Amino acid sequence: MSKPDYPVRTRRLALRPFTLADLAAVHSWQSRADVNRYLYGEARTPEETAGSLVNKAAVTWPEKEGQYLCLAIEKDGEVIGESVLKYLSQYHRQGEVGYVLHPDHHGHGYATEATAAMIDLAFDHLGLHRVIASCDALNEASWRVMERLGMRKEAHFRHNEIFKGAWGDELIYAVLEDEWRRMAVNRAAANGG
Ligand SMILES: CC(C)(COP(=O)(O)OP(=O)(O)OC[C@H]1O[C@@H](n2cnc3c(N)ncnc32)[C@H](O)[C@@H]1OP(=O)(O)O)[C@@H](O)C(=O)NCCC(=O)NCCS
Repeated sequence: MSKPDYPVRTRRLALRPFTLADLAAVHSWQSRADVNRYLYGEARTPEETAGSLVNKAAVTWPEKEGQYLCLAIEKDGEVIGESVLKYLSQYHRQGEVGYVLHPDHHGHGYATEATAAMIDLAFDHLGLHRVIASCDALNEASWRVMERLGMRKEAHFRHNEIFKGAWGDELIYAVLEDEWRRMAVNRAAANGG
């Protein structure tokens, strides 16, 4: 296990731990009902966002299972969203990724790009064996990110929970470390590298 050097840079983005100075940016999306449509929470008050930011900023690397690493996604110095890695199990070397972007920045592939970097961290730095992602089956923008990343759809649970007052379906996607590394080789070959 080795904490990466921040910021982690991708082609267009930088990922780094949140600080309390990111409050306005985080509130710009956490306060929106549309962003929360398929998240477990609801639109937050400034006080609730401030509380959530304290938790995000507290973990700069997941040291033990159950912890969430939540990194700010920066585009040209502006914080446009967050990329999450939950350390699900140390013994089984399992983790789960998640993502939220401000709607002004949807439609450019930033969630896919940031999540690919987070999956790299999960395998290269945290030593995981399998990374999953899950979403409401109606959250098409979210499962399309998982498909674009090359993750495998492993489950479609029907009515496994009551979500915001109605029966919800949940999709589970996953990728194994060796599958991810093979895809990286193929991606590099496709890019001529
Ligand atoms: C889930 C969420 C992050 C997806 O955002 P997104 O902008 O659709 O995803 P990406 O950033 O990967 O962008 C992909 C889109 O950009 C397009 N795109 C443009 N340039 C691209 C590029 N260089 N690379 C990849 N995609 C690109 C893709 O075609 C795709 O659009 P399409 O779905 O219409 O085909 C966003 O909808 C969101 O924040 N939702 C609210 C929070 C949420 O529900 N999170 C998930 C909880 S499970």
